[in-house]
Order: sequence, then C-alpha cells, then structure tokens
Amino acid sequence: MNRHATRDDRNLVLVGFMASGKSTIGRRCAESLRFGFRDSDALLERRAGKPVSEIFEQEGEVRFRSLETAAIRDLARESRTVIATGGGAVLSGLNVARLRRTGYIILLWADPDEILARCGSRASRPLLACAEDPSARITELLAVREPLYHAAAHAVVHTSGLTRDEAVERVLDTYRSLCEAPASDRRQWPK
Ligand code: S3P
Repeated sequence: MNRHATRDDRNLVLVGFMASGKSTIGRRCAESLRFGFRDSDALLERRAGKPVSEIFEQEGEVRFRSLETAAIRDLARESRTVIATGGGAVLSGLNVARLRRTGYIILLWADPDEILARCGSRASRPLLACAEDPSARITELLAVREPLYHAAAHAVVHTSGLTRDEAVERVLDTYRSLCEAPASDRRQWPK
C-alpha cells in the first residue's frame, strides 16, 4: 500500500506566497497520494482563455479575484484532490471558508529573500511586474498576507533550506498527521 495513503481522503490544499512551490510540490504530493491535482490559476486561465498576466492587464485585479473565487468554489467540490491556490486566494474569507470545508490547508512558507530569488522573471507575476523595488513590494504584500495565511492554514511547512524532495515529504507527513489527528487536535478545526 502507498505509504501516504490515509483513512481520510479529504483534499490537500496548498496556500502560500508566490513562488513558494505550491504547484510543483502539489503535483508531486498528488502523485504520491494517488490524488488528482488541480491549480486554481490554471483553471481560471483555461476558462478565461488567457494567462493571469493578461487578465490583470486587460480586466484588472478585481475581475481576476472574482474568477479566482469561482475557480476555488468549483475546485472545493472535488475530492481526493490536491488543490494549489494562487498567492492571493486567502484575501477572500469566502475562499478560505470553502477551502477549509473541503480539506486540510497547508501553508508553504519561505523566507522573503528566497521568495525574491525564486520569483526570477517577474513577467508572469503581475503584482511584481511593475514594482520598482520588488523586494519592498514583497515585504508590503507579506505584511498584509502573513496573518491571513496563518489564520487560514491548519498547518505550516517551512520550505526554506529544504530540497524539493524534502519539502514534498514534509507536506505529505503533515497531511497524514492532520488526517490522523482527532478533530479536537486540529488547529481551529472546524471553523
Ligand atoms: C497572485 C499570485 C499568483 C496569481 C496572481 C495573483 C497573488 O499565483 O494567482 O498573479 O495575489 O499573490 P502564484 O502564487 O501561483 O504565483
């Protein structure tokens, strides 16, 4: 039997800042768990017929957030699925409530310096693309989002200094622990 199979087939939801590894790590976790893998940005891009950067540019952030909320609503109906969310998904309480109902939310947390290094080309990241000082912009976004990430998540995995393989193992172990913990031990569960 797959060593990561669990008695509990609730979804595994990954939240975290841009470039925290949600999609790469999520895909690998899904393979291990034999779960499906879905990415909210990929779904909304498919529906809109254009990349996130163009949605921001042509229709604005408010429109992007409403497409994101619709994508998350639909993904939250899946089961046995790893769901990777966009870095701003936690800005909406409705998104968070839906994600918490559908599964266990794990926050991937990386040090801001590492995030900056990983963001590399900013062209596909509209919130950083036009920032004069990307480092200051990341600090500013994190100041707003850090408490929201922590409030949303059932557990946190610190990825700084870990290899991708180690991060995947850490997430799978965390997910398994959440599945096995008595409901009363799960932080803020149920919300
Ligand atoms: C965003 C993060 C992006 C994407 C959009 C907005 C954000 O996703 O949803 O550009 O608000 O942080 P990633 O976290 O996958 O880069």
